[in-house]
Amino acid sequence: MTAFEPRVFSGVQPTGNLHLGNYLGAITRFVALQDEYPCVYCVVDMHAITVWQEPTELTNAIRSVTAAFIAAGIDPDKHVIFNQSQVHQHAELAWVFNCVARMGWLNRMTQFKEKAGKDKENASVGLFAYPTLMAADILAYKATHVPVGEDQKQHLELTRNIAQKFNHDFAGRIAELGHGEEYFPVTEPIIQGPATRVMSLRDGSKKMSKSDASDYSRINLTDDRDTIATKIRKAKTDPEPLPSEAKGLEGRAEADNLVGIYAALSEKSRDAVLAEFGGAPFATFKPALAELAVEKLAPMNGEMRRLLADPGHLDAVLARGADQAAEIAAPVIDGVRDIVGFVSSRRS
Ligand code: AMP
Ligand code: TRP
Repeated sequence: MTAFEPRVFSGVQPTGNLHLGNYLGAITRFVALQDEYPCVYCVVDMHAITVWQEPTELTNAIRSVTAAFIAAGIDPDKHVIFNQSQVHQHAELAWVFNCVARMGWLNRMTQFKEKAGKDKENASVGLFAYPTLMAADILAYKATHVPVGEDQKQHLELTRNIAQKFNHDFAGRIAELGHGEEYFPVTEPIIQGPATRVMSLRDGSKKMSKSDASDYSRINLTDDRDTIATKIRKAKTDPEPLPSEAKGLEGRAEADNLVGIYAALSEKSRDAVLAEFGGAPFATFKPALAELAVEKLAPMNGEMRRLLADPGHLDAVLARGADQAAEIAAPVIDGVRDIVGFVSSRRS
């Protein structure tokens, strides 16, 4: 087995408001990994346009995700923050992967089925090919670890399949050109913590999502103190008091979700939270959760606003990040051209 230098890569789409699910399931994990690994964090604008985006809103959303990354604590001086469309290697590698991945593999992707809905014929080709671009994002950096929420598990499995098939199909060339046994790593997903799947506040069977019609279903990172408190107060629950152990949350999706959110925000386990709140009614737990959420999110909210007031600075962060990203990705994609057999003039 070829040994690969460890590197973390992840991406967030600039579509609508970032919410508590993105924050707890992904962004807080991105922050935590910075001490251990070199990290590359990407605002995936090319993924965003797989469904219609109003151009001016897209521009604002790209800056807004960039601001959220920095406000949450990702350090652009130590790691790479950039937007996908500025680094052309993503599109190039995605095309090669479109020719490696099989129709049957993509046909099994549940996110496409959910997003395309009933009118599959009218979905963009990009929405169908979305996971091959995601594989290209990751493998253009030969990333070994990818922190994501639970909903991305299947896409990461596909990324692993693409890496393995590429390594296998081109094994002879890879060895001949001196790349060892494998060109791409088989990336490990990092799906960890008490909030890998934060659910809607209105319906414990649906995940919290940017596209839910009801704003009461989610807590946005831009919500103010009163809005956060109101949304938690109105969150759907059952009439029972909280159990004293996590086991007692089985079959109580809404209660489990709120306890999971509390656990993630306070960096404790569900059991530790229930040791404190076991036996309490929601009338006691909800105000405590609201207070904790406001305490954790308010500083970030303020910092995001401050950063968004200076779009020129955010654009400069992205431009520098794109240069740094391209420096890593360019030789990887040059290698792919040689392996595939393209005649290339090395101008990337
Ligand atoms: P997206 O907004 O779809 O680009 O998602 C960005 C990141 O947030 C991905 O790693 C997702 O897995 C994660 N994520 C999105 N929604 C949730 C949720 N409800 N709970 C936990 N993680 C989520
Ligand atoms: N598909 C991911 C999502 O919707 C975003 C994404 C794009 C991503 N490229 C990635 C996540 C690469 C991790 C690694 O959440």
